[in-house]
Amino acid sequence: MNTMRLISTKICKTSDIGINNNLFGGIMLSWVDEAGGTMAAEECCSPNMITLKMDEVLFKLPVKVNDHIRIYGHVAGIGKSSISLFLEAKRFNFDTRKEESVCSTKMLFVNVDKYGKSKPIAESRRKIILESIK
Ligand SMILES: CC(C)(COP(=O)(O)OP(=O)(O)OC[C@H]1O[C@@H](n2cnc3c(N)ncnc32)[C@H](O)[C@@H]1OP(=O)(O)O)[C@@H](O)C(=O)NCCC(=O)NCCS
Repeated sequence: MNTMRLISTKICKTSDIGINNNLFGGIMLSWVDEAGGTMAAEECCSPNMITLKMDEVLFKLPVKVNDHIRIYGHVAGIGKSSISLFLEAKRFNFDTRKEESVCSTKMLFVNVDKYGKSKPIAESRRKIILESIK
């Protein structure tokens, strides 16, 4: 079943802050990129998945110092050499124990060979992923 799964958790530190005491957007992008890269690698069983594309990014709510940010993902599509993931960062509220979406996007990662050229994802993995997103 293609449900959202937790990939990583980050804590917003003072060194991550930009304007208006909010988390700097570029830091959030690097968190989401790294989380997506690890998920793409795990899904495709390849350590050589590189970021090709990031779709529209929505910074829905500000993130402040000491906020705990959980990054979730699910597979949106699979190609011959690429995988598309929907990624969502959620802030965990310790008082209500609820999560609120703070940032979301869709990203495309490509499997590459040692020369940096696109390379097909193993057929056995593609089949499993295709089955899981039906
Ligand atoms: C990733 C990279 C090797 C792809 O090169 P390419 O010449 O486009 O390769 P291909 O034409 O074989 O395409 C590879 C896959 O990407 C897809 N793709 C390429 N351009 C695309 C685009 N603009 N939008 C969506 N998908 C695209 C292709 O459809 C293909 O998918 P598939 O095999 O699943 O069908 C190359 O673009 C690259 O090295 N980019 C830099 C990556 C990088 O450094 N990332 C770090 C961030 S700075």
